[in-house]
Amino acid sequence: RDELDRRAIQIMRDNDRGGYTIPTHGLYPYQWNWDSAFAALGFAAFDPARAWREIEILFSGQWLDGMVPHILFHRPDPGYFPGPDVWQCRGPLPSSGITQPPVALSFARRLYEAAPALGEVPVRMLFDPMRRWIQWFLAWRQDRGAICIAHPWESGRDNAADWDRAMAAIDPADVGSYERRDLDHVHAAMRPTKDDYDRYIWLVQRGRRLGWHAPSLAVDPPFLVADPTMTFTLMRGVRDLIWLGERLGLPTAGLMHDLAMLEQGAETLWNPAIGAYDSRNVLDGAFSGTLSNASFLSWYGGIDRPELARTLEEVMAPLPYGVPSLALQDERFDPRRYWRGPVWGVLNMLVGMGLEEFGHPRGAALRAMTARLIASHGFAEYFDPRDGAPAGGGSFTWTAAVWLAWAG
Ligand code: DGY
Repeated sequence: RDELDRRAIQIMRDNDRGGYTIPTHGLYPYQWNWDSAFAALGFAAFDPARAWREIEILFSGQWLDGMVPHILFHRPDPGYFPGPDVWQCRGPLPSSGITQPPVALSFARRLYEAAPALGEVPVRMLFDPMRRWIQWFLAWRQDRGAICIAHPWESGRDNAADWDRAMAAIDPADVGSYERRDLDHVHAAMRPTKDDYDRYIWLVQRGRRLGWHAPSLAVDPPFLVADPTMTFTLMRGVRDLIWLGERLGLPTAGLMHDLAMLEQGAETLWNPAIGAYDSRNVLDGAFSGTLSNASFLSWYGGIDRPELARTLEEVMAPLPYGVPSLALQDERFDPRRYWRGPVWGVLNMLVGMGLEEFGHPRGAALRAMTARLIASHGFAEYFDPRDGAPAGGGSFTWTAAVWLAWAG
């Protein structure tokens, strides 16, 4: 255990670029939004001041309209595509033009709870920026109270089966030629396909053409999917911001209303056909019919649902290391391909934390499985859910953070 703690701390230190943390050397050489929030939780275990620095630097990239970008390109790195020259955004720092699940909102509460005296000033400084990010989601990424993604990268679950049909409706014929760099670092069998990448880049080109101007982007969007990852992480973020506001005497009135709306929105993601939360294509109204690890984030969001606990039992039963990114029973299941089957420490943690808060025994079980997974297979980006074989990038910040903050 001590040895694993030491290795996890070493990974965090090695990936620290001086106030912000990269997910892993090579494959992901910049500051990614939700990776960075997990990094902050990891740092909180041994360097609380450094943990706050991570969140402050993340918010230093916030756009005037309230969005907090999914990548901040602090220093040029030719080993990543698409870089700042492709995105061509005009925020306060070079950045991407889309966002990511707002777990930073909730993790700010955890940092505060771990060290209230240290956290008070950063919470006061960040409270309004955090509220503005929430307002941005509700203005530009909301459908019937559920929170949507306008690009698969926004969900963080890049190539999840959830988006297959919505992605198939995009014709990327005019995308032009480009050179992927991810395949220099990780085997192609573990990464999204060329069909996916053409559409990822095509959507970036559309955003660039429209100057990343939210009102223009919202007209005839080619891709818009209401997503449980976004909906439940934002719901949890709003709850935690209310908690912080009440603690520190900051204004929370509007947030109560936002929370009620998100709770209604979550209902629109309940798919009785799979007995779980699902993603819903806003453009045609159809569910994706996908049991993913995000299907079980409602406890984390603050909603208990007995039918969901039964579905979770079924999904976890055949597998030793937790909740797969796609159920084994699904014909699209692919054990090594990123978000189409592998198990991810971060999603195990969010699902497990939520279950533990509701007193479900599955939560502690999930935590023990995640600890065993990391102890026997290391700090990989993600893992084969059948045998735990490490996959994707190595020495990964967020897996180290999951160990330090929760599993270990
Ligand atoms: C990538 O480049 O694969 C990232 O996941 C985008 O966020």
